Amino acid sequence: MSETYIESAVCDPETAERLRAVDDVRRFFARLGRTGEDAPKYYIQTFGCQQNEADSERLAGMCAAMGYTRTGLPDEAELILVNTCAVREHAEKRALSIIGSYKHVKDKNPGLLIGVGGCMVTQKARADKLKNSYPYVSFTFDTGAANRVPELVRDALNGRGRSFVLSEEWKIAEGLPIRRESKHMAWLSIMYGCNNFCSYCIVPYVRGRERSRSAGAILKEAEALIADGAKDITLLGQNVNSYDGGPGEDGRRIDIADLIHKICALEGDFRLRFMTSHPKDASDRLIEAMAAEEKAAKHFHLPVQSGSDRILAAMNRKYTAEAYLEKVGKLRRAVPDVSVTSDIIVGFPGETEEDFEATLDLMRRAEYDMVFSFIYSPRDGTPAAKMENQVPREVSSERMERLLALGAEIADRRNARFVGRTLRVLAEDVSKTDPEVLTGRGDPVRPIHFRGEKSLIGQFVNVRITGARTYCLEAEIV
Ligand code: 5AD
Ligand code: SF4
Repeated sequence: MSETYIESAVCDPETAERLRAVDDVRRFFARLGRTGEDAPKYYIQTFGCQQNEADSERLAGMCAAMGYTRTGLPDEAELILVNTCAVREHAEKRALSIIGSYKHVKDKNPGLLIGVGGCMVTQKARADKLKNSYPYVSFTFDTGAANRVPELVRDALNGRGRSFVLSEEWKIAEGLPIRRESKHMAWLSIMYGCNNFCSYCIVPYVRGRERSRSAGAILKEAEALIADGAKDITLLGQNVNSYDGGPGEDGRRIDIADLIHKICALEGDFRLRFMTSHPKDASDRLIEAMAAEEKAAKHFHLPVQSGSDRILAAMNRKYTAEAYLEKVGKLRRAVPDVSVTSDIIVGFPGETEEDFEATLDLMRRAEYDMVFSFIYSPRDGTPAAKMENQVPREVSSERMERLLALGAEIADRRNARFVGRTLRVLAEDVSKTDPEVLTGRGDPVRPIHFRGEKSLIGQFVNVRITGARTYCLEAEIV
């Protein structure tokens, strides 16, 4: 667990105002002598994407600043925060079931505060459901209201009753404290929200329109991270390709390529990644930046979603399969041996066997190192949920199996190319199955397992690849 530190030296006035509540809560506990060993504990449960993980690190930072210490056990906590996801029905169901399980914790400890935030409760119907059917939930806060958590906690501690914040204000709050999960691997949010309105996707409705952080604030945070020992930094946003840092010194707008060049120019030994990219916006300049910068990881996550032009149009993706493959071709020519990965949705409304085969065909031609595949899940309020010809579950499941089998076959082939090569890998952690083994990742995205001392964690090591499996590589230190 990394130390808390303030994200940017400049705290915007509104955030500063809101963060006064942090001191109120801290004083509340200090008056009761609840500091040090007796400090109250917080527990955070996170669902969903990397963006949510990054948001949870901000929630953790605020909890620490309020005087809470972390626990991994919900039973011990006096404050439980649940950071929810809404991208598929499954994620919402899991969140509701976990929240339901906290009722027992609340029964045992009536002083427990339970707060629910994130994408699920940014939808009014879901916030109402928590309000009406989950009486032990103390407060909810939408995706734009993370900086209001200290106020919500303060008011709840002072017995002011339950609150359900639906501000739908999606301003950037600079200056929130962050408590990072890892010292050597860091998320760095560069923008929030999405303007694309893909017809299946809830994100634009629950995270608002695109807004970019200033390049200055991002660079300052990157510098602080590197000084703090970060070796693997991932720039985060729903579509980082449309990052807009405003006019630069030459009057041109600072784009994602400029940002990559600027961060890679910082001193230090680190690797830079970015996620996610919309194929329509992945520019030549971005590809060139990846090719030119040694510190830029040679991995491009470029979600295609479908290989059928008819379905791509219905999804509102704004590119064709050919245009997509051309972009992949350009990328492969510019960045030799680049790892390309993708997201694919199976069973979008109206998807025929022919459409699905076009997706399999595209997978073969794109030669993905890894595919993250999802069965289409209708989301209330999105255009696709109202489309006719919803695909029956059995059909989607059967297609999913075929997609997974092909994905594994291609991944096997792609992995085999590494055997015998030496790769530079960041030792990330001890393997979950064998304490003598470390796991890390090089530029290719799959985990690499090798025997090594724990003391190597957080350092780059050169390893020779000795074996390839579908989803990981085996190696030895050279
Ligand atoms: N159903 C299934 N998958 C979805 N995704 C987004 N919305 C849906 C949905 N309604 C997938 C997309 C996206 C990834 C993060 O989640 O593939 O790229
Ligand atoms: Fe959703 Fe499309 Fe935006 Fe990605 S680009 S977050 S899939 S709307």
